[in-house]
Amino acid sequence: MQPVRNIVVLTGAGVSAESGIATFRGPGGLWEGHRVEDVCTPAALRADPALVHRFYDLRRAALGGVAPNAAHHALAALDRAWPGGLLIVTQNVDDLHERAGATRLLHMHGALLSALCAACGVRTAHAGALPPGSRCAACGAAALRPDIVFFGEMPYAMDRIVDAIGGCDLFVSVGTSGAVYPAAGFVEWANDRGAATLELNLERSAGSDRFDESRLGPAGELVPAWVDELLRERR
Ligand code: OAD
Repeated sequence: MQPVRNIVVLTGAGVSAESGIATFRGPGGLWEGHRVEDVCTPAALRADPALVHRFYDLRRAALGGVAPNAAHHALAALDRAWPGGLLIVTQNVDDLHERAGATRLLHMHGALLSALCAACGVRTAHAGALPPGSRCAACGAAALRPDIVFFGEMPYAMDRIVDAIGGCDLFVSVGTSGAVYPAAGFVEWANDRGAATLELNLERSAGSDRFDESRLGPAGELVPAWVDELLRERR
């Protein structure tokens, strides 16, 4: 195998599970009590903005009671130590990667601590509740909405993601079910480019067969062990 220089890490809800944030699709998952179509689609936002805003207000408020876990800290340590290319692409809308100190990071599905103006498209940092009709500081329209990429909308920063996967030698997926595209297809892009592919997940996922290697267990154990291994090999 070639020496690894450029790494892309994709993370999903499983990386934050040990911090106490429920995953989406497991029992007791975040969608419980709501159909995805009722809280995570443009049609839902039009039909019942109060429900959709409230759903994300509660999730934003819950961030105050959680902290990064060993997996977030290990990825932040990798970010600090890795001399080659690294991009952490998270599907998560929590801020636990950045609170652990990761900087080479992008949120492809948006962020709870951000508001998006549906009128002018400006994204602004936002804490606290975001009632429907909140005004955009940039254009003045009463059109702020949660900055979440709903089903049917284009994820953020796809150009950067395509470039990073196109130039990586190692693609690692952590804590994601492989149920939602385009993220679920990233492993195939990495395979096409000849990169090594590794999955770290609690259980086998929809995409496990597409990875060169799949390690099963909690992210809080698997991720620090993998980062140690990678940094040790580098020395
Ligand atoms: P899912 O809830 O679909 O999958 C979470 C995965 O993490 C599952 O495969 C679990 O087995 C695994 N898991 C659970 N606990 C774990 C742990 N402690 N360590 C490691 N793995 C663990 O969440 P995502 O794949 O992130 O999109 O879902 C993808 C997208 O679907 C989300 O970004 C969200 C949702 O619709 C939007 O909100 C736009």
